[in-house]
Amino acid sequence: MKINVNKEITNNKTDMLVLGLFDGEKLPQNLTSKNEKIVNHVKLLISNNQIKSEFGSIYSFSTLDPEEAKMIAVIGLGKKKELDAEVARIIGGHIVAAARANKAAKVVVDIAELDPMALSEGLFLGDYQFKEYKTKSDDEFAIENVTIISRLNVESSKIKEVEELTGGVKYVRNLVNRPASQVYPKVLAAEAEKIAKESNGLISAKIMNKAELRKIGANAILAVASGSEHEPYLIHLVYNLDGISRRTHSARAQGSQSSTRDDSVRKVDSPASLAIVGKGVTFDSGGLSLKPGEALEDMKSDMAGAAAVLGVFKSLASIKPNVTVHGIIPCVENMLSDRSMRVGDVIKTLSGKTVEVLNTDAEGRLILADALTYAEQQKPNTIVDLATLTGACIVALGEQYSGVMGDASVVKALLTASAVSGEKIWELPLPNEYKEKMKSDVADLSNIHKGRYGGAIMGGLFLKEFISSTPWAHIDIAGPSYNRTPLNSYTSVGASGVGVRLIINWLKTISP
Ligand code: BES
Ligand code: MG
Ligand code: ZN
Repeated sequence: MKINVNKEITNNKTDMLVLGLFDGEKLPQNLTSKNEKIVNHVKLLISNNQIKSEFGSIYSFSTLDPEEAKMIAVIGLGKKKELDAEVARIIGGHIVAAARANKAAKVVVDIAELDPMALSEGLFLGDYQFKEYKTKSDDEFAIENVTIISRLNVESSKIKEVEELTGGVKYVRNLVNRPASQVYPKVLAAEAEKIAKESNGLISAKIMNKAELRKIGANAILAVASGSEHEPYLIHLVYNLDGISRRTHSARAQGSQSSTRDDSVRKVDSPASLAIVGKGVTFDSGGLSLKPGEALEDMKSDMAGAAAVLGVFKSLASIKPNVTVHGIIPCVENMLSDRSMRVGDVIKTLSGKTVEVLNTDAEGRLILADALTYAEQQKPNTIVDLATLTGACIVALGEQYSGVMGDASVVKALLTASAVSGEKIWELPLPNEYKEKMKSDVADLSNIHKGRYGGAIMGGLFLKEFISSTPWAHIDIAGPSYNRTPLNSYTSVGASGVGVRLIINWLKTISP
C-alpha cells in the first residue's frame, strides 16, 4: 500500500472516495462534488440515518457516475472536539476495512481535520494481515494506494517515516504470530544479526551463546533454558549514529574472551545512552510447573518483548535519532524434560544474588534478572524492559493496557510517549512493604510471592531487586501483546506489535 498526500483531488477516477461527518453537520464538509445527484443522495442517506456521525460508523455506496469515484464512503467522526491522533488512527483502520470489503484498490481520503501522519499510521497498521500459513487465500486483494487530501504541507519523507515505524510494528507482529516451532532462540539471534547487517553500520550485534553465558555467569538464563533442546542466547544490539562505538563493540565481541562483562561497549559522547530489555521466551510451557491446556495456547507470544526490541532497532536504523541504544534480549524456550530446572532449585544469578525457584512458570523474571544486570553493566542512563510477565497484569488492567512500574522520572516520560503513540500504559506501584512476600527460606529471594494478590506488582518488585542504581521502568505487556479479539480497528487479532511505537516516541522525546 502506497500513501501520498495531496492538496486537492486531481483525479476523480478512484475506486473509493472517503469523506467524514462530524456530529451536528448536515453534510460532509468536503463533499465538493458538483454532481447534484450525489449531494442529494448523501442528504437522503443522512436523513434516513444510514450515514451517521457516530464515531467509526461507515456507510459506502456506489455512485454509478463515470465522472465520479466509483464508490463514496462516509465515516462518522463523532464530536469535533474529541478529535486527536488516536481518532485519526482508528479512522485509518476503518478505512482499510471498508476499502477491503469493497475491493477498492485506489482510495482517496478527503477529511481535512485528520492529521495525515496519524491517519497514515492507522492505514498502514490496519493493512496488516498474517497469512503466511494459509494455503488457500480467500482474499488476494490488496489496496494499492491511498491519497490523503490535506491543506497541510506534508513532505513525503514524513509519510516515509510513518511507513518505517509501522514497518517495525508489522515485523514484530510477524515474529510473534509465527509458531514457536519456527521462532526459537537461535532464530531471534539470527534476526538480530540481520538487523545489524542491514543497518549501514548504525547497529552492531553481539550474540552470546550457551558457553559464553556460562562464562559470564548468566545462570538464570541457563537454568530456564535447560529443559529445552533449543539453546539459549543473549542478544546485545547497539545503535549509535557514529560508528565509533560500533567498531569498539564488535572488535571486543569477536576478540577477547573476558570482555563480555563490564566494559564491552565504550561509552561515546552521545547525548544519552539507553538500554531496552525484552523478554524472549519463545515458548512458555511453564516448565515442570506446567501450564494447563488453554493457558498454553498463546504462549508462542511470550517473546513479544524481545520482538518489540528487535522492531525498535529495525525502525531506529531508518529514523536515526541521536541517542545510543542498547537492545538486550535474553532468549530461551521454557520446556520440561529430565534436564529442566526443578522446583526448589537455587540459582546464582549474574548479579550474584541467589533465587529459589518455587514455580518454573515464573521464568520471565529469572531471565530478565540476568538481562537487567547485564544491561546495567553497559552503564546506560536509563533502562526500560518490556515483558509478557504476568497473567495478573491482564487481570488488573484488561487487554488494552500495559502495566508500567519503576522510577518516577522514567515512568513519567513513558506516560508522555504513550499519550503521543496511542499505546496505552497505566502505572502500578512498587511498594517496599510487599517485598517480604518474596522472601525465601533458603536463598536471597523466591521467584514467586506468598499469597494470591498483586501478581503484576510482585513481578515488578522482583525485577527491581536486580537494578542497583540506574533509573529504570518495567512494562508488563502481557495484555496488549497478543489477543484473540482485535484491540482496535488498526490492530488485528493475534500479535499487536505493541511496544515499538511507544519506545520510538520515548526515544524521540530524548532526542528530537
Ligand atoms: N508468560 C507468562 C505470563 C503471561 C500469561 C503472558 C498470559 C501472557 C498471557 C509468565 O511466564 C507466567 O507464566 N507468569 C505466571 C507467574 C506466576 C507463576 C507467579 C503467571 O502469570 O501466572
Ligand atoms: Mg511462565
Ligand atoms: Zn512467560
